[in-house]
Amino acid sequence: MTRVIGIMSGKGGVGKTTVTANLAVCLAQLGKEVIIVDCNISTSHLALYFGIHDYSVTINDVLKGKYEIYDAIYEHKSGVKIIPASLSSHSMIGVDIVNLRKKIKDVLGMADFVLLDSAPGFGRETMGTLLASSEVLLVANPNFMSVVDVMRVKDVLNEYNVKLTGLVVNMYKKKYRMKIEEIEEMCDIPILSVIPHDDEVARSLFFKIPVVLLNPNASSSKKFKELAKKLCGIEEEERSIIDKIARFLLRLE
Ligand SMILES: Nc1ncnc2c1ncn2[C@@H]1O[C@H](COP(=O)(O)OP(=O)(O)OP(=O)(O)O)[C@@H](O)[C@H]1O
Ligand SMILES: [Mg+2]
Repeated sequence: MTRVIGIMSGKGGVGKTTVTANLAVCLAQLGKEVIIVDCNISTSHLALYFGIHDYSVTINDVLKGKYEIYDAIYEHKSGVKIIPASLSSHSMIGVDIVNLRKKIKDVLGMADFVLLDSAPGFGRETMGTLLASSEVLLVANPNFMSVVDVMRVKDVLNEYNVKLTGLVVNMYKKKYRMKIEEIEEMCDIPILSVIPHDDEVARSLFFKIPVVLLNPNASSSKKFKELAKKLCGIEEEERSIIDKIARFLLRLE
């Protein structure tokens, strides 16, 4: 069954688009079919993170009913299928993001994962994304304001009965930040991944190549790969095999 995962945060600029792009590539590298959708209609960037800008049909056209969602799919060489939003502010006129849920239904069955890159805040775009999601992955930075905002999103998810898969703490650094235990205690959301603040991410943005492709050995890339495995349940499988081997070897001693 296709998992439709909203990537959300409340606060802006915490790394939702970065997580969406890199997670998508890692899932594709694990052999999964992945579609990502730019649901940040007012300030769309997702396709640009892949260096794609010359697209004619966008999610805006699909939401307006001018095109089918299949017409707005662009395949990146990583295998990730991208549904961009228009870069033109004029194209926002007449777009109703609340139609997203209905449109996404058309690609269910075409992919293992559909990742929805949300807008920040709690406006109509965010609510349309939330209602189209079967589960949500929250992204926060290790600071008080960002954590407060994911707590707000958590409340809204509860209200709408949308499953909360977990929290990604992004841009973790050595100084002037909340500790992981403090974040966990404060928001009571399972932390799936802690991604370090990594200058390679800025370099990847400059070259418009997701960091996991530009530098697979970067500290952030390793964490994105781990997160993808976790979402696929691969890590637990590997762990249990290692545990079984360890138990067997202990018995031999
Ligand atoms: N782990 C990281 N290390 C260093 N820089 C990062 C990291 N993650 C994201 N960034 C940088 O932070 C900035 C914001 O990231 P991004 O655009 O992904 O955030 P966003 O949550 O999608 O923002 P918005 O709410 O505006 O959509 C970008 O310049 C990005 O390169
Ligand atoms: Mg974004």
